Amino acid sequence: MKRNKIIAGNWKMNKLYEEGLQLAEDIVQGLSGEVITRSGHIPLVILAPPVYLLRDVALLTQWYKDIDVAAQNAAAWPAGAFTGEVSAAMIGSAGASYVIIGHSERRAWFGEDDAILKEKVIQVISAGLHVIFCVGEVLQERMDCRHFDVVRKQLQDGLFHLEKNQTGHVIVAYEPVWAIGTGHNATPDQAQEMHRFIRDCLTEKYNEEIASTIPILYGGSCKPDNAAGIFAMPDVDGGLIGGASLNAADFIAVVKSI
Ligand code: PGA
Repeated sequence: MKRNKIIAGNWKMNKLYEEGLQLAEDIVQGLSGEVITRSGHIPLVILAPPVYLLRDVALLTQWYKDIDVAAQNAAAWPAGAFTGEVSAAMIGSAGASYVIIGHSERRAWFGEDDAILKEKVIQVISAGLHVIFCVGEVLQERMDCRHFDVVRKQLQDGLFHLEKNQTGHVIVAYEPVWAIGTGHNATPDQAQEMHRFIRDCLTEKYNEEIASTIPILYGGSCKPDNAAGIFAMPDVDGGLIGGASLNAADFIAVVKSI
């Protein structure tokens, strides 16, 4: 079964308004000509700017079938008195189709546990959007050889409440926390080993056909000089790129390396 290749750029809390627009414009410019149609030869490119830029970036990319837009977070509730929160439906109404849920920075700094992430996944899917669900172990868990158990539990508790017919809206991102923003990427073999394990978990929970269609992205210090090796692995379907997505030339180089 052929899976979509996807490169997503997670800008995190970076770029002021003009800078963000410029970055999006430079990426679109750099990729246009290659991304006008979904040829299948070019990955789907997803830009995840800070939420205040979503609408502008969505408008800027709206004619490019190969470029879509994601939010980095969404509320665990549909609407109402939740000061400061942004709902999945609002994100959709701004023109985004994807939401990153469960990023390790959300888990670590904002206390998002599996119970809240489960609610967020429900909100994203209910709003008709796609979820990019992040999993990954911290260094100590890998050193203790608990990384497979940790990732399995994150999937079970945050994602596996979804029914089979909702899995078409799911992308999984494996992001070992020890590799995020540290310059220490997982080796292609380490990435492949965990991606294969995640696919096996998806097979166990759903079935082989569904597992074979869900894209699994790698994230963690992915850069132009290491991306090709990681993306060449059979169960790695693309990347979730942080630091290297803040520079158009680097991001485009990563896109083209797949
Ligand atoms: P990084 O971040 O590429 O800067 O390591 C990846 C991520 O956090 O999504």
